[in-house]
Amino acid sequence: MNNTRFLISEYFDKYTVSEINKYQELGGFSGLKKALKEGPDFVINELKASELRGRGGAAYPAHKKWQSAKDRDEEVKYVLVNADEGEPGTFKDRDLMDCDPYRIIEGLTIAGFTTGACEGYIYIREEYEDIRKKLIDAINIAKDNNLLGNNILGTDFSFNIKAYTGAGAYVCGENTALIESMHGNVGRPRVKKPRVGERGLFNKPTMVNNVETYACAAAILTHGSEHYNNSGVNGHKGTKMISLCGNIMRPGVYEVPFGITVKTIIEDIGGGTRDLSLGKFIQSGGASCPLIPHTHFDTPYGYEPFKKNGFDIGSGSIVVANGNVRVVDYLSSVTGFFEHESCGKCTPCREGTKRLHEIIDDMCHNEASMKQYDRIKKIAITMIDTSLCGLGQTAPTAILSAMKHFEEELMESVTK
Ligand SMILES: Cc1cc2nc3c(=O)[nH]c(=O)nc-3n(C[C@H](O)[C@H](O)[C@H](O)COP(=O)(O)O)c2cc1C
Ligand code: SF4
Repeated sequence: MNNTRFLISEYFDKYTVSEINKYQELGGFSGLKKALKEGPDFVINELKASELRGRGGAAYPAHKKWQSAKDRDEEVKYVLVNADEGEPGTFKDRDLMDCDPYRIIEGLTIAGFTTGACEGYIYIREEYEDIRKKLIDAINIAKDNNLLGNNILGTDFSFNIKAYTGAGAYVCGENTALIESMHGNVGRPRVKKPRVGERGLFNKPTMVNNVETYACAAAILTHGSEHYNNSGVNGHKGTKMISLCGNIMRPGVYEVPFGITVKTIIEDIGGGTRDLSLGKFIQSGGASCPLIPHTHFDTPYGYEPFKKNGFDIGSGSIVVANGNVRVVDYLSSVTGFFEHESCGKCTPCREGTKRLHEIIDDMCHNEASMKQYDRIKKIAITMIDTSLCGLGQTAPTAILSAMKHFEEELMESVTK
């Protein structure tokens, strides 16, 4: 697959921040111009026709979120970019902001116009400090060119963007924890209500979307939903940014058409695994998602086929493991991550992540008993049913999928 830069990432590295004119010559800001001309309902219809789903993990339909943000009649509303990107193996948002910062600004401005928001925020993880500076430069240059600020492009639409540095915890990517941290509170999730759509930043309605969701919205407005839909293959619509890493010859960020198989991603895009085997399993979507065994590598990359098989597109990461990786060792790093990142607010997650990590580590050292192995499912069910936020609810997912697909191998680690 020679070209993986065709729609969302079409302008990657084709301009520098100081060259806003070049971005416009490439076609940049034509999505915003179209939105300003056609109006908010047109934008929402385009998102609906493209079936764009949020790219932060939960895959919620974008047009529904934008519509309900638009429908709120409060005078002050905000739109916010979630650029926390804390999911292990996920780094596509970094490249989206670094290689094409104006597209994020364009997408966010389209969202501001569509929903009637007065201001946009980019919540960016603290490790991306250089990118934050780049975005601030881009915001200032856009303002100088009447693409942000008062009366954008001669219309009565005014909109500003600010960048905010994240608090440095994985859980702050969760919407309510993110807002809490922006308010200067400890970055911990709220007990669900009110949702940030009702009462978010500064207690005003706030629409939160992932970086890629905004970039994709700008691309859809630029090219039209029909063109976007036609870029998928084998009956699937659109494209997706993925971050490919692990035991793979060509790790990196790629744009792939929905509908190609996992095998094509590993072999044609990633160049195959480092030991030239097909691979043993992948983890798609982040640490909170299931493992996909090599027996399912013919599955088309898409929301429906993945869901049908119990898999997840999630954050768009694909971590590849070859035959040298013991499943239990992989699970140890996953469970260690969740133990470390649990914020401790609720008992099932605070205790459950610890217990799971302990059992998996005993298995790594061939010291686990059958009784411990049996406890995994009980702990997992309690965490899924009773944890307060998505972190605790999804922390056991990888283990449960491994118990389904790699039980024989896991049982070798159970010695008592
Ligand atoms: C523990 C946790 C961490 C999350 N981290 C991120 C993140 O880094 N980036 C992101 O866009 N969404 C993250 N999410 C999902 C967000 O809460 C939210 O669903 C998303 O930003 C909505 O945008 P979307 O509809 O465009 O996907 C996280 C969720 C949870 C539970
Ligand atoms: S599930 Fe975990 S991360 Fe979420 S609130 Fe509870 S302890 Fe904190």
